[in-house]
Order: sequence, then structure tokens, then C-alpha cells
Amino acid sequence: MYRLSKNIAVVLVAAGLLCSCSVKRLNVDKNIAYCKKQAFRTLADVPGDLPNIPRNIKDEAGNWRYVNYKDWTSGFWPGTLWYLYEATKNDSLKKEAERFTSELYNLSVEPAFDHDLGFQVFNSYGHGYRLAGDEEYKKIVLRTADTLATLFNPKVGTILSWPRSVPNMDWPQHNTIIDNMINLELLFWASKNGGTKGLYDIAVKHAETTMLNHFRKDYTSYHVVVYNKETGKRIKQVTHQGYADDSMWARGQSWAIYGYTMVYRETRDERFLDFAQKVSDVYLDRLPEDLIPYWDFNAPDIPDAPKDASAAGVVASGLLELSTFVKDEAKAKRYREVAEKMIKNLSSAEYQSREKNSAFITHVTGHKPNGTEIDTSINYGDYYYIEALVRLKKLQQAKSIYENL
Ligand code: GLY
Repeated sequence: MYRLSKNIAVVLVAAGLLCSCSVKRLNVDKNIAYCKKQAFRTLADVPGDLPNIPRNIKDEAGNWRYVNYKDWTSGFWPGTLWYLYEATKNDSLKKEAERFTSELYNLSVEPAFDHDLGFQVFNSYGHGYRLAGDEEYKKIVLRTADTLATLFNPKVGTILSWPRSVPNMDWPQHNTIIDNMINLELLFWASKNGGTKGLYDIAVKHAETTMLNHFRKDYTSYHVVVYNKETGKRIKQVTHQGYADDSMWARGQSWAIYGYTMVYRETRDERFLDFAQKVSDVYLDRLPEDLIPYWDFNAPDIPDAPKDASAAGVVASGLLELSTFVKDEAKAKRYREVAEKMIKNLSSAEYQSREKNSAFITHVTGHKPNGTEIDTSINYGDYYYIEALVRLKKLQQAKSIYENL
């Protein structure tokens, strides 16, 4: 009997080791090399005229649709090139990153069109400053943070995400979307790098107000909250890109996971660390087996509903960071391992675009209710995938994810 259970124990330990080895075996360099090859394919195709920033694959032939600097996704392509430059030290990639970054300059001198300035300018000029140290880039990021701050409404305690009429948003009342959490990073960074303390305060206030109003009791996120712009009172909690007002839109929840992890990094306030884990756990508990979510966790046609691989990339990247903060070792290990499995699955033949088109990954869903960008490749899917690979490479080298490679 003892002998039998000892054998079982040996088998279990071996299985456990195999399991963790299979996660560790993910060859990050091979996947970065794949991304580099795909990026050069894309670069060979970009038009000589504007617009030339690849946003999404628009047809079966694998052609990109291009946008200009005003598009909310304009920073992801330069950001992707900066990450690839960081990982490969390839000078042509650096030149291309600089070229596409420079196209976003006007965002730093024009009034705010919406809250996406972080996605746009932090991912382009911000990475450029981190990796190339150009002081002009720093000034551009600082100016843009001040522009984003103009959208803050102190009566509400959040940034106005869409300063224009959007269906069902009771314009001219004040709307805030969960995606806005990511753009707080621009304010935190600016405040630490020569900007005012007020930028930090706005970011913290926005995160606090969002924590109070943007979540259901089970920690799943609403997409949009509409507030009375004069009294700050919450008017309603609705969706724009999700399946229903009370559903868990996958990318929305991913913005919450990544966002609250980042807010903890910047504030070291335990409330945010606790909250980051709560919004992560409800997401992880409801994932399908391959860890890549359907576009909305409540989509009525699951398992036939389209996936959103971009949410998986955002979450994988966020969980790698969260795993470095969580003090409970078993929980930290779980976050790290599940993030690695997500990256591994994104790196499989099922999710990499490979010969289908020159993006890195596919099965990304942008705006299902609108009928646009469904089950395709989109530049932010690639951006968070390469970010997750780069973060994992740093962790595998026992580096901090904030050190440059
Ligand atoms: N920020 C818009 C989106 O996640 O689709």
C-alpha cells in the first residue's frame, strides 16, 4: 500500500514537473523572431502615402487597412516596432519605429479628441524615450499628458473618455469607459518625469472613482459609466462594445486587469493590488479551456462565438506584472504560470497568423455589436502579444520587467 502510494506520488510529482517544464519550454526568442519576420513583411507593404499605419487585416487576401495618427490605435504599430527593436537591436526596426512615431506628433499640440492619448503617445514616444533617450520625445510625452488632463472633470472624479456625442451616452453628460484605465499610465509617468503632482492625483482619483462605479458585485466590469457632469452622480452603467449592459466584455475586463495592476505599481496602494487580483480571478475562473476568451463571456452563441485573442495578450502581459507583486507565493506562481500558458497558446498554429497574413496573431475581435473587425488581426492584438513576449523574456532572464533588454 505504502509502495503503491509512493509510486503514485512519484508519478504526480513527475507530472507536475512535466507540466511546469512544458510552460518553461516556450521558446520566447523563436516567437520574437517570428514577429520580426512578420513585421518586415508588413513594412514591405505599407504605402508610400498617408495613411500608412496598419490597423487591421481587412480581407481574405491578408491586406492591411491603414489609418492616420488620429485613430485610437495609431500608437500600437510604432509601439510594436519599439518592442521589436528592444528585443532584437535591429537598427532598421529602430528607424521604422522613429518614422512611425514621428507621425503622431500632432497629438501633442492639438486639443484632446478623446482619452486614447496614452495608447497613442505613450506607446510610441514613451517607448521611444525609454529605448532611445531622445529629450524631444520626453517633451512630447509631457505635453500630451497635460492635454489628457484637460479631460478630467473634478466634479465626477474621472476623465471624460469620449468628448463627443456617442449613441446612448446622454451627451453632453460625462462618460467614462473602462479602457480609460490604461491611459492613466501616461499621467503617472509624466508626473514622475517633470510633470505636475496634479497629474498623479488625477490618475489616482480616476482609478478610485472607477473602482466604485464601474464594477458589479462579482468584480466584472461595465464598459461605460455615464455621470451627471455637474453633480458627479452616476446616471447609468451600459455597454458600447460588449454583448449587453450586464455582460463581461472580454477586452474591457482585460483593461481592468492590466490597469489596476499598473495603478498598484505606480501608487503601491494595497487597495489597488487587492482589486487587481479580484478582477483577474473572476476572469480566470470563467475562461474556456485554451485560456483565450470569447469576445464576451456572456455571448449567447458560445462555443461558436468569435474569440478575442487581444484580450488574452493584454491579460497575459498584465498577469506577468501582477505575479511580481502578489505576496502569496502560490498565487503569484499561478498568475505567472497561467500567463505563460496564455502566451504559449497565442504562439500556437491556432492563434499565430503565420502565412494567413503578416500580423502576429489572429482571432481578435474589435467591435462585434458594430459588425466590424470580427475574428481578424488587429494591431493592438500584436502589440500586447509582443509586449507579453518581451516581459516574459525579461523575467526568464531574472530581470525586472521595467529594465530594458
Ligand atoms: N479601446 C477600444 C477597444 O478596446 O476596443
